[in-house]
Amino acid sequence: MTGSPAPDLRPPVSPAPPGWDPYLDRYAVRAAGLTSSEIRSLFTVVSRPEVVSLAGGLPDLTGLPLDALAAEAARLIAQDGLSALQYTSAHGLPKLRGQICDVMKLEGITAHPDDVVVSVGSQMGLDLITRLFCDPGDVVVAEGPSYVGALGCFAAYQAQVAHVAMDEHGLVPESLRTTLRRVQAAGRRVKFLYTIPNFHNPSGVTLAVERRAEIVEICRAYGVLVVEDNPYGMLGFDGQTYPALRSLDQDNVVYLGSFSKTFAPGLRVGWVLSPAAIREKLTLAMESAILCPPTLNQLIVSRYLSSHDWQGQIDVFRENYRRRRDAMLAALEEYLPPGCTWTVPDGGFFVWVTVPEGVDTKALLPRALDAQVAYASGSGFFTDGSGARQMRLSFCYPTPERIHEGVRRVAAVLRSAL
Ligand SMILES: Cc1ncc(COP(=O)(O)O)c(C=O)c1O
Repeated sequence: MTGSPAPDLRPPVSPAPPGWDPYLDRYAVRAAGLTSSEIRSLFTVVSRPEVVSLAGGLPDLTGLPLDALAAEAARLIAQDGLSALQYTSAHGLPKLRGQICDVMKLEGITAHPDDVVVSVGSQMGLDLITRLFCDPGDVVVAEGPSYVGALGCFAAYQAQVAHVAMDEHGLVPESLRTTLRRVQAAGRRVKFLYTIPNFHNPSGVTLAVERRAEIVEICRAYGVLVVEDNPYGMLGFDGQTYPALRSLDQDNVVYLGSFSKTFAPGLRVGWVLSPAAIREKLTLAMESAILCPPTLNQLIVSRYLSSHDWQGQIDVFRENYRRRRDAMLAALEEYLPPGCTWTVPDGGFFVWVTVPEGVDTKALLPRALDAQVAYASGSGFFTDGSGARQMRLSFCYPTPERIHEGVRRVAAVLRSAL
């Protein structure tokens, strides 16, 4: 063919106005629940190197033995590639499910591998449980504040959240009773309690051991399932672990576990330990969602557990996070203006700060970004409009020096608002 290209005779298309969505009238009603979280919207800004991000919750992976992991993954594909790259059962690999039971023993859980379903991160476990149990308008009871990813999941299924108060010892049992009574008296159906007992996201507090049996009993008495989300439980700074709620009640507690914080989030391997009665439905829900969890990633985790000192690696992570927590607490003490208070986590990734009356952390965030620091404002962790005077500061990812500088910047912004 020769000659010049045919002229483009299409009419000029004017650019769509920002935010315009041509599919708006075609989405399912439940798609309205899919809204971007503040942390997600901040992602581009906080990725700039000059910004100290105390907003996100990325684990620090620098301690991982990358060369050994690479060799292991290469060996897996070279030696067992035909099965490692094949479909597998929706339930997950039997060997890994057995290993997961050994991991859970460290928190007092006795479980049978048959009751474990491997998921794509614990987020997927939560999604499937919500899908199985929640109709539009059903109520999920959750701590206030609670994990943004869980609130997003509940919204996506059009479930409503009733928050339960927390104090420095975690979820308050009396508040749970009052909330369940109030919601049920209003003729609403509570499907489950969603709780993060250890090193809570975002508050950093841990549920007192003395409260655990009481909470499990209250839920049983009210006919409400417990969903225990425990991604941080092995990250106690003194190596301490706490008895899982699941260890107190096998028949009414669904336990969500994850290798994201103790190994590597990019592998997306987590699990659900369900009461035996739920297992079949859960496996069917898994099959309908993804057919099966990724075989290769399950094998990588399984080999890691059998041939690496994974508990020693967790000690390395713990020590790393402890140093960062210390740096954050010291900087808060040094810089934050009078009237601010904060939690003192003994594990996990987060400190929860309360600022003086009159300061709105969400309204202040643009100024913080101008000052090249980011935090997660408190209101995103509630569904009832609370949290204006709170912010979550993460110490998991930046170095101690950057944390120090970040807190100094946050404090300067707060002072300017007082
Ligand atoms: C409380 C909580 N639950 C669940 C998740 C999701 O973890 P995963 O990577 O296992 O999906 C997170 C992640 O940050 C979390 O903080």
